[in-house]
Amino acid sequence: MRELQPLINSLLPDLVALRHELHRHPELAYEEHATAARIVDQLQHVPGITLRTGVAGTGVVATLGADRPGPCVALRADMDALPIEEQGDHAHRSTVPGKMHACGHDGHVTCLVGAAQVLAQLGDELEGPVKFLFQPAEEGGAGARRMCEEGVLDDPPVQAIFGLHGWPTLPQGQVGVHAGGFLASSDRLHIAVRGVGAHAAFPHEGIDTVLVAAHIIVALQSIVARNTAPLDSVVVTVSQVHGGTAFNIIPGQVLLTGTIRTLHAATRERTFAHIHRVATDTARAFGATAAVVIDDGYPVLENDPGATEYVRRVAAHTMTPVDIAPVMGGEDFAFYAQQVPASFVALGVRPVDRDTYPTLHQADYDFHDGAIPLGVGLHVDIARRFWREGPRSSVA
Ligand code: NI
Repeated sequence: MRELQPLINSLLPDLVALRHELHRHPELAYEEHATAARIVDQLQHVPGITLRTGVAGTGVVATLGADRPGPCVALRADMDALPIEEQGDHAHRSTVPGKMHACGHDGHVTCLVGAAQVLAQLGDELEGPVKFLFQPAEEGGAGARRMCEEGVLDDPPVQAIFGLHGWPTLPQGQVGVHAGGFLASSDRLHIAVRGVGAHAAFPHEGIDTVLVAAHIIVALQSIVARNTAPLDSVVVTVSQVHGGTAFNIIPGQVLLTGTIRTLHAATRERTFAHIHRVATDTARAFGATAAVVIDDGYPVLENDPGATEYVRRVAAHTMTPVDIAPVMGGEDFAFYAQQVPASFVALGVRPVDRDTYPTLHQADYDFHDGAIPLGVGLHVDIARRFWREGPRSSVA
């Protein structure tokens, strides 16, 4: 196999410049027009690559070696930024007020562009096609689901898919892997508590929805503490409470919203049922009602054991793979993982000489340039070793 480092090093100045440009011009979910144009600009003249644009709105699918006979492997990057005002003072800070790449998707795009450029030079090592998925709207917009609906895993059919996320708690050179449920299902909870409004000095003439809502908020935590197996994981967070108009009026309605996180599909369904029961029956105990609505968000991201073991072996060639615990954050890569064997891994971005690094979604997070060659190399190795060393057991 060809030595990768010289190929990556020759591209590195351009890749760093690309990341800085993306970081300066962040775009929110489904608005990634300039980002997509930059990706097309980088890849349209690369020999062997065909491009499909406008996928799921602003997505780009690049296919290398579409006519090769072997099985197809897919690599994915997300493109969208977040509605946060950047706090950093580096030269490539965001030029757009109120928007920034606080989740490092600028780094993910850069690593995947670099991987496509390197793999195009390794054509003779590839036995099948490689698809590069640049998807919109990871941050709440379920861009991955739309990508699946628009057939990105078909024609040629994808045998396995891999993705990475910059991980600020891991140092550069480490790759965090976890087989099974790695990132949580993420669903939105709405509860409307309805009672009877009254003068605040005559509580017996109303049904106090503030008191009922308080009991529901407390009782919901019993689902985590008493209805969930101690070694399973559930989060039920009530993050918004809206009710009332004045100090001397008991409101007739209180609205609660929140989020539900789980690491197993079965736990997710059970938790939904517990929430319905606890909210409606608690309200009934006080003579009130509670209407519960749960909006389906992202499913649990299930890393395929065979695909994950494969990434661990691949990463060990150049980096240090480490086992990491699941995280209760969500990730729409989960939709691909529902369709084909998949593994999503954590790429260390913290410089080795630093003890701490800003975390994801913080206003001073910046995907570190030092992680770019590592991300490119990991993507390239996952693709080029796939045919000989791939996760055959689970891909058969
Ligand atoms: Ni992210």
